[in-house]
Amino acid sequence: MSQVLVLNSSLSGEASVSRLLVAEALAQIVAREPTAKVVVRDLAQAEIPHLNPLTVAGVRAKATTVAETKARDLSDQLIAELRAADTIVIGAPMYNFSIPSTLRTWFDHVLRAGETFSYSEAGPKGLLEGKRVIVVESRGGLYSEGPAQAIDFQEPYLRQLLGFIGLTDVTFVRAEKIGYGPDAREAAIDAAKTRLAEIIARPVSQAA
Ligand SMILES: Cc1cc2nc3c(=O)[nH]c(=O)nc-3n(C[C@H](O)[C@H](O)[C@H](O)COP(=O)(O)O)c2cc1C
Repeated sequence: MSQVLVLNSSLSGEASVSRLLVAEALAQIVAREPTAKVVVRDLAQAEIPHLNPLTVAGVRAKATTVAETKARDLSDQLIAELRAADTIVIGAPMYNFSIPSTLRTWFDHVLRAGETFSYSEAGPKGLLEGKRVIVVESRGGLYSEGPAQAIDFQEPYLRQLLGFIGLTDVTFVRAEKIGYGPDAREAAIDAAKTRLAEIIARPVSQAA
């Protein structure tokens, strides 16, 4: 049975474009694989705590205190969900040219030496493999072309974070110009839905 991990991070509830498109992606995946197990993490509703001086060693070193052990247990759980997934669908709004801090804290817990990446003389190596990732990016403005391309710190950052742990089969589906008014919003949603249908219809190995 295949498994799908869904991460939502928009703060905008039912008005959220990324949530709408993530739901669309999930519906299409489940229509193709009705027995798929779906695990949902709503990072806006149930925030992953920031690492802090009392907890950081639990994820980045060895857990010895109660607080560090709690952080490590959460990290273990999030990594287990990631390992078990064949497909990962991430809803990632652009916030201040990058990703929501809630999504960033999820990455802080799953990028873990010895678990999802390793270091050697040859440099870092991602330890996850064989997973398809679909990232829905919603943005108020236009960043895929034109002058704002240079200030897109969302997509290159996500590509780096995912690639660092071995998630290299990543497809980005952008919904841009959401802040340009209702017509632009609707056009962006329609275009993103078409793109999702295309990529989900492809065999997993051709998804990128
Ligand atoms: C805190 C915050 C910061 C934002 N920063 C940006 C930004 O830097 N660039 C941009 O184009 N839009 C920005 N926006 C607009 C969102 O990217 C846009 O509304 C998008 O649709 C949000 O995704 P959602 O509809 O899934 O919530 C920001 C919105 C919020 C709430």
